[in-house]
Order: sequence, then C-alpha cells, then structure tokens
Amino acid sequence: MRPNFTLFTLLLLHCWHIDRIHGQKSEGALTVVEKSKGEGADEEEATVGDEDEGDLEVVQPTELWQTLKPGQAVPAGSHVRLNLQTGEREVRLGEEQLKYWRQEHREEEETLSSFSPEELKRAMKKIKEDSNAAHNQASVESRFRPLEELKEDMAQLHLLVETDFQIMKRLLEQLNSSNTTTEQRVSVLQELEYLVHQVDNAQTLCSMGGLQLILGGLNSSDFRVQENSAFVLGSALSSNPVVQVKAVEDGALQTLLTALATAQPLHVRKKVLFAMASLLRHFPFAQHHFLSRGGLQVLSELFREDGGGIVRTRIVTMLYDMISEKKGLEAFMDSAHEERVRQYSKVSLQGALLDEGWCLLVPQLLDSTEHDYREKALRALLAMAPVCLQEYRSHSSLLGSLLSLQDQYQDLIQSEMILGEENSYFLEIVELIEALHVKMK
Ligand SMILES: *[C@@H]1O[C@H](CO)[C@@H](O)[C@H](O)[C@H]1NC(C)=O
Ligand SMILES: *[C@@H]1O[C@H](CO)[C@@H](O)[C@H](O)[C@H]1NC(C)=O
Ligand SMILES: *[C@@H]1O[C@H](CO)[C@@H](O)[C@H](O)[C@H]1NC(C)=O
Repeated sequence: MRPNFTLFTLLLLHCWHIDRIHGQKSEGALTVVEKSKGEGADEEEATVGDEDEGDLEVVQPTELWQTLKPGQAVPAGSHVRLNLQTGEREVRLGEEQLKYWRQEHREEEETLSSFSPEELKRAMKKIKEDSNAAHNQASVESRFRPLEELKEDMAQLHLLVETDFQIMKRLLEQLNSSNTTTEQRVSVLQELEYLVHQVDNAQTLCSMGGLQLILGGLNSSDFRVQENSAFVLGSALSSNPVVQVKAVEDGALQTLLTALATAQPLHVRKKVLFAMASLLRHFPFAQHHFLSRGGLQVLSELFREDGGGIVRTRIVTMLYDMISEKKGLEAFMDSAHEERVRQYSKVSLQGALLDEGWCLLVPQLLDSTEHDYREKALRALLAMAPVCLQEYRSHSSLLGSLLSLQDQYQDLIQSEMILGEENSYFLEIVELIEALHVKMK
C-alpha cells in the first residue's frame, strides 16, 4: 500500500541513547518513507491516522515537544530534535530546520540543558552516521524517499557538522556583503557572539580579518548592529590576550571610546562598556592609552547619565578592577614581573581618578537600593581611599550615608539571627562600611 502522505522520520529502529556515564551507544538507523509522486500535497494531513504503514505509528506533532518512541514516525516538515540529556528524540510542529539546535533557541536550550558545542558536534556527527546507515539500508528496502530528498536532508546535516572555522567564514562573508540586511546582520552577530566564547574561535576571527568588520559594526547607524557588534567584541576579548593585542592594533580603543561617548540608547552603551572593560582587563598598555585619551571623562559622563544604577555599577567595578590589578602585582612573581611592573607604572590611574572627580562620584552609588551595587561602591571607595581620603572627609553626606547604612545592615543581620538564618553577605557589607569609616576618622 502506498502512502498518500510524506513521512519523514529520523526514527530509530533501535533507540538511540547517549549514555554519558557508560559511554555506550546503541546502534541507530534512520528510516525514511517513500513519498508518493503525483499525489497532492493538500492531502497530507487528511488521513494520517488511517494509514497502514506497517509497524509505523504516526505521531501528530503539536506546539509542544513530545517524546518519540522507537517505531514512531512523524509527518514531513515536523521538527525533530534530540534531547541530549535523556537521549530521546522529541518532535513538535514546525518548519524550523534542525539547525535550530545550534542557534535560534540556544539560550532557551542552554538553560534547560547545558551542553558544549563539542557535545553537540558529536551528536551531529552521530546523526550523520545514522543517516549514512539508513542510506545503505535504503538500497535494499522498498519504502524509500526519492534520493533527491534524501540528499537535501544530507546537505542539511552536513551544514550542521561544518566546523567552527567554516561557520565563521560563512558568517564573516555575510557580514562583509553589502547585500546583507540589518536583520541578517544582527543574527550573524549573535551567532558569532556564541562562537567567540571559545578562545581559539576568537583568535580565528582575528586572523580572518573579522575584527575589522566587527569594529565597523560599532560605527553602524543601526543601534542593534552597534549593540551586537559590541557584544561580540566584548566576548571575544574576554580573557583572551591575543585578541586584546590585535584589537588595540586595529584601533579598537578609539572606536570603543567614540561609541561609548556617542552611542544611543543607554543599553547599547552598556554593551560597549562591556567590550571596553574586556579590552582593558590585565592590559596596562591599553589602560594607559585609555586614560591618556580621556577615557575617565567619558566614563564620568556615562555615570552621570545612568539613573538606574547598573551602568554605574559596571563602571565602578571596572575602576575597582583596574586599581586592584595594579595593587595585586606582587602576587605574580613570575619572569614577566618586572616588565609588568614597568608597564603598570605608566598607568596613572589614581591621580586621574582624583582629577576627574571620581572621589565624589562613586559615593553616589551608595544611594542605590541594591545591596550588590552598594557593595561594589564600598569596595571601590576603599580601593580609592589612598588618593580620595581628603575628598571623602569633606564630602557633605558620605559619613552620614555610611552611618545610616551601617544601622540598616545591622538591623538586617539582627532580624536574620532572630529567624535563625545567617547571612554572611550582610556581615561582609558591614565590615566594608566599618573599614571605610575607620579610614575616614
Ligand atoms: C547582491 O545580490 C545580487 C542579486 O541578488 C547579486 O547579483 C550580487 O552579486 C550580490 N552582491 C554581493 C556583493 O554579494
Ligand atoms: C571583505 O570584502 C573585501 C572586498 O570586498 C575584502 O577585501 C576583505 O578581505 C573582506 N573581508 C573579510 C573579513 O572577508
Ligand atoms: C568609525 O568612524 C570613524 C569616523 O566616524 C572613523 O574614523 C573610523 O575609522 C571608523 N572605524 C571603523 C572601524 O570603521
């Protein structure tokens, strides 16, 4: 009996398990079902349930994922995925490609089950093997799909196993093409952002000339392109000295400073700030040039503009990190120690902080209602104390704020003790307040 609908199934004669504990994998195979030629596509949905497809039980997908059992088939166009945690296949309605796993709903997937790109690639490779197995089988069985269709699927699967290198090459070409729409640019950047978290990928991006394209994106007149470009840059720079150096060589410092001063709206500048902080981290050369080009002034304007506090907190944390890096030099007595000391000696951060009025700006962050923001402010205030003490003492309300915060946190600690809870976090904050208070006496 010929089916009057198309069955597409990645279903397995044997259940496919990824058993991470024992490292065992059972054999898998793909069954594909012939598409009958000459019959209207509009019949597809009509009589699915009545079809006699031998052992095949047809599952009707819904908007929700359902688990596929061995021996079950799904209509063409369904979206089938592998749940990497359970090793089971799941199906739902939808035209989306299998590519889905790698990108669009990545964030959602990641919160459900976090797996590395490597795991994903292994899984993809397995799918390919399964498909190959099915192909061989196809030559001896009677129920097959036309080879053309099978090839299309294979092509799609090949796309899935393309290496990160190939993916980035393709993405950069898209980014470099004048034909690419803004919408596409944004999604290309989002894909890149995901990839450059891997140190090697970020360095490959540089060697492919991608950094220039990303920096160009920071100049874009579309704020989504700007924001996502900054995000890619920040992620690529994070803990990646090779990229940090290349970025400075490519003029990233000036481009970022300009974007930091001019980008709109604020959430774009927040991402630019992230990129700037990643560029400066443990990189005295960049810090020196940041300061000499008026970076602290740009930051203070940004600080004043942000009412909400998150950007202020990020700025203060960035300053704190820079101060502590310089102070913490003694901790690394390796062969590069002297050179590091020499380079950091050129970063005249403390004086600049005083000159640009940071001794009076940072206390404003204490007005926040967030414990976390206050904590960051207190740490920075303590770190800045060596140059700011005079300013702190003559500050009209700093002492008052500290005393009132101290009361507040002591009350919080008290009420937690009554409830039998213990929160060392509030204790920590009180200690910071007291340390600062002692210095100001
Ligand atoms: C842009 O698209 C047109 C037509 O789709 C094509 O002929 C042209 O080669 C494309 N240009 C680039 C730079 O990709
Ligand atoms: C972008 O395109 C130009 C020519 O149109 C080329 O010279 C450059 O190498 C390309 N950049 C990248 C990163 O592909
Ligand atoms: C960004 O634009 C400025 C001028 O508006 C220009 O000097 C700079 O070279 C541009 N940067 C990139 C990476 O295109």
